[in-house]
Amino acid sequence: MLKEVIATRFIAPLREGGSLPGLVEADDFGTYVLKFSGAGQGRKTLVAEVVCGELARRLGLRVPRLVTIALDPDLGLGEPDEQVQGLLRSSGGTNLGMDFLSGALGFDPLAFRVSPEEAGRIVWFDALVNNVDRSWRNPNLLMWRGELWLVDHGATVIWHHNWPGAEASAGRPYDASDHALAPFTPDIAAAAAALAPRVTEELLADVTACVPDAWLAGEPGFDTPDDLRRAYARPLLARAAVIHERIRGIQ
Ligand SMILES: Nc1ncnc2c1ncn2[C@@H]1O[C@H](COP(=O)(O)OP(=O)(O)OP(=O)(O)O)[C@@H](O)[C@H]1O
Ligand SMILES: [Mg+2]
Repeated sequence: MLKEVIATRFIAPLREGGSLPGLVEADDFGTYVLKFSGAGQGRKTLVAEVVCGELARRLGLRVPRLVTIALDPDLGLGEPDEQVQGLLRSSGGTNLGMDFLSGALGFDPLAFRVSPEEAGRIVWFDALVNNVDRSWRNPNLLMWRGELWLVDHGATVIWHHNWPGAEASAGRPYDASDHALAPFTPDIAAAAAALAPRVTEELLADVTACVPDAWLAGEPGFDTPDDLRRAYARPLLARAAVIHERIRGIQ
């Protein structure tokens, strides 16, 4: 389970990112980046964020802590921006939040060095979850207090958009030629040796249990949220064993 907080104040839209995340204060006095359940990308984006964010964290990668944020749509009444007000109004109930890394800088491959070990772990993880959103154009990597942090796992596990074809889709290779860390000679073999054995059925059950039922209920073809949780786990378990041999575009 993720920690649950209640939004008490909408601070500002982040003005970055396609889904227009917002900055909110919550009843625990924390400041969070809020991803709206009512955003056009839909709740599957939030499921992907939780599954991949929590998986990455358990594999020792740095991801800001995730929480669920209960939102009262009236919080947007004073918001002058119409688009933001619309999002607030359509996102009553459970939303996704993550610790706001105040003062973080966007990753610049020309300004920062990444070791082959760390680059290998991140590229291997992105291959596992088929992350298409870590390119040098839009790395979704932040430098905070001298370390690299991963954000934005909404565009992963694309097979969840078509469950009947999930096995075939998850069997495909990963193209890393555009990956932001491709120039850092990622050591994929070392990453696979260290991380693949850690992706077990138990770990994936633990990770998928973090997804709120509200974002899983009512998926066509699945009777219960737990059936759908198992469907998220299955392709990741299969892929973990073989994906290192199917990463394209890296020397
Ligand atoms: N936890 C955080 N702390 C500080 N800044 C953040 C955090 N999360 C996101 N950001 C900043 O906000 C930007 C947008 O966030 P994110 O990429 O998650 O949103 P998105 O709408 O999914 O974006 P995209 O346009 O990539 O689809 C990030 O690139 C980063 O600069
Ligand atoms: Mg992004």
